[in-house]
Amino acid sequence: MKNIVTARAHTNIALIKYWGKTDIALNIPTTSSLSMTLEPFYTTTSVEFTDNESDSLILNSAMEDSSRVSKFLEMMRGQYGNFPKVMIQSENHVPTAAGLASSASSFAALTAAMFGLLDLEKDDSEMSRIARRGSGSASRSIFGNFAVWNKGENHQSSFAESFYNKDIGLSMIVAEISSEKKKMSSTKGMQLAQTAPTYGAWVEKSAIQLAEMKQAILQADIEKVGLIAQDNALGMHEQNRLCLEPFDYFTSETQRVVDFTKECYKAGLLAFVTIDAGPNVKIITDHATEKILLTKLKAEFPELTFDIARAGGAYEYL
Ligand code: ADP
Ligand code: DP6
Ligand code: CO
Repeated sequence: MKNIVTARAHTNIALIKYWGKTDIALNIPTTSSLSMTLEPFYTTTSVEFTDNESDSLILNSAMEDSSRVSKFLEMMRGQYGNFPKVMIQSENHVPTAAGLASSASSFAALTAAMFGLLDLEKDDSEMSRIARRGSGSASRSIFGNFAVWNKGENHQSSFAESFYNKDIGLSMIVAEISSEKKKMSSTKGMQLAQTAPTYGAWVEKSAIQLAEMKQAILQADIEKVGLIAQDNALGMHEQNRLCLEPFDYFTSETQRVVDFTKECYKAGLLAFVTIDAGPNVKIITDHATEKILLTKLKAEFPELTFDIARAGGAYEYL
């Protein structure tokens, strides 16, 4: 057995969102979801056994609260047999808890690292199931390019798979409005959103949108991808505003970027938005348009930071 194992996984951004659970303990979602893995944003995680009394987490060189990772490791001990305490060292090349999917890249990287440390068979479906237990969106970060997480109905049937392992020319421009830690975690936010009277309708529509999205990706039809993704994401945020304890991840700056992107589309550019559990906006476009659009965005929002992200690869060992 190796002494220390290091793995890397990239974040992914959902084009069809996961936003609600039928089983909170197991992270079984109310909808199937589809994402693109992003090349420039990732987590690198090393694990080793320790004689310490508890699991520990060092994140970006600082000691962190280890309760979430420890709960995850306890789940793994239940699945694969007891093993010693683990020391985790992790680097996020993505803002933590800001709606840029750090939980996806980090639990996918931790899963891969633990599979290496425990010498488990590197079965993609099994790794996806285990990553899902840490954070639902992590189930998709095992894979490169496009992944679909079929919602399933229990632990065994709920896992992601590669949908289309090709670059269809899609680009995302990430508008970093704030890299501050969010007040409302994704876990809590989606639980509240499920109390919206319109939530059932959003879930139903999502199944239709998923089928259309798969078609659009296979046809490399970026306009169709963008239109569906935008509608699905804005619908998700509507649930937050309509639920019993309303909340909103948008800031006024978020809304301004959304409005400006819609104007760019009206003016003839491929430009659409998707937004996760945070204020940051991802602008969907294609490789041919990304630079023109970036120039326009920088001119309109000189105070913001923008990064161009293209599709990234599957998890890997370093
Ligand atoms: P995000 O939008 O970044 O995915 P979430 O609310 O879904 O935000 O998850 C953020 C949480 O994920 C953090 O508070 C922390 O518990 C966990 N996390 C993020 N990065 C790491 C890491 N590298 N190692 C362990 N846990 C992490
Ligand atoms: C808006 O996977 O972070 O990014 O399973 O509770 O850890 P937990 O939630 P998380 O939720 C992600 C929500 C989203 C949409 C998505 O990635 O599909
Ligand atoms: Co998350």
